[in-house]
Amino acid sequence: MATGRFDGQVALVTGSSSGIGAATARMLADAGATVVVNSSSSVDAGTALAAELPGASYIRGDIADGDEAEALVATTVERHGRLDILVNNAGTTAVIPHPDLTAATADVWRRIFGVNVIGTWQVTVAAVPHLKSSGDGRIVNVSSLAGHRAVGSSIPYAASKAALSHMTVLLANVLGPEIRVNAVAPGLVDTPWTSDWDDVRAFVKAQAPLERSGTPQDIAEVIVALVGARYVTGEVVLVDGGLHLR
Ligand SMILES: NC(=O)c1ccc[n+]([C@@H]2O[C@H](COP(=O)([O-])OP(=O)(O)OC[C@H]3O[C@@H](n4cnc5c(N)ncnc54)[C@H](OP(=O)(O)O)[C@@H]3O)[C@@H](O)[C@H]2O)c1
Repeated sequence: MATGRFDGQVALVTGSSSGIGAATARMLADAGATVVVNSSSSVDAGTALAAELPGASYIRGDIADGDEAEALVATTVERHGRLDILVNNAGTTAVIPHPDLTAATADVWRRIFGVNVIGTWQVTVAAVPHLKSSGDGRIVNVSSLAGHRAVGSSIPYAASKAALSHMTVLLANVLGPEIRVNAVAPGLVDTPWTSDWDDVRAFVKAQAPLERSGTPQDIAEVIVALVGARYVTGEVVLVDGGLHLR
């Protein structure tokens, strides 16, 4: 017999074949949700994760592509009958030192905004009618500390996460009372994305009050807490071991 707090609920976690998304998919499944795992190219990893989680399935789809974003939500509802929880985690970046303005070309800006901002928007718009029907719809966006401080892998990435954080607030304002919308803004997290960022990891260890970088589970814990928090909407929670204080 199922006993989790999200029993009977369906959760779509974009970009969940690895890192923060995979940890979130596992944690939501542990709490009883039926999870849809998604990625744009890592099909084997996504399929393997879905096979480990009870009732879960994998759907490939690039959120930057309008048709694929819509199909991702439509297939989720076709397969599982409903959608209660959307975690907009899929994201991308380019590593460009901030002073190198000419390296941050218009194509780089378009690619990053195409996934982090427009892709998130496309999945969200497709999901909203289903989240409204759920009776308890929740969206959690995965933003970044880079959207709130003058840090991050590049200026286009940081600006895209600032846009995502503000989109969170704007959506919360119009989607209540049926849907709550919140975000997490992680600092440095140990995932495949940051595996060779040892200098940044050393900096965080030296600077942050909690003296370490984050784990995917550290971030998933807050995402799942926001999914469960019934009187919170429009919040962007920094999850950075206190790095923003220094
Ligand atoms: N790691 C950090 O330090 C950190 C800090 C702050 C915020 N974040 C944010 O956390 C999120 C997850 O990052 P992570 O560190 O966990 O990275 P990760 O381990 O590299 O995972 C990224 C996931 O997103 C998927 N993805 C990328 N582009 C996609 C697209 N267009 N459509 C669908 N899925 C896509 C990837 O699979 P495919 O490549 O197969 O598509 C993968 O499943 C991102 O939004 C990132 O900006 C990370």
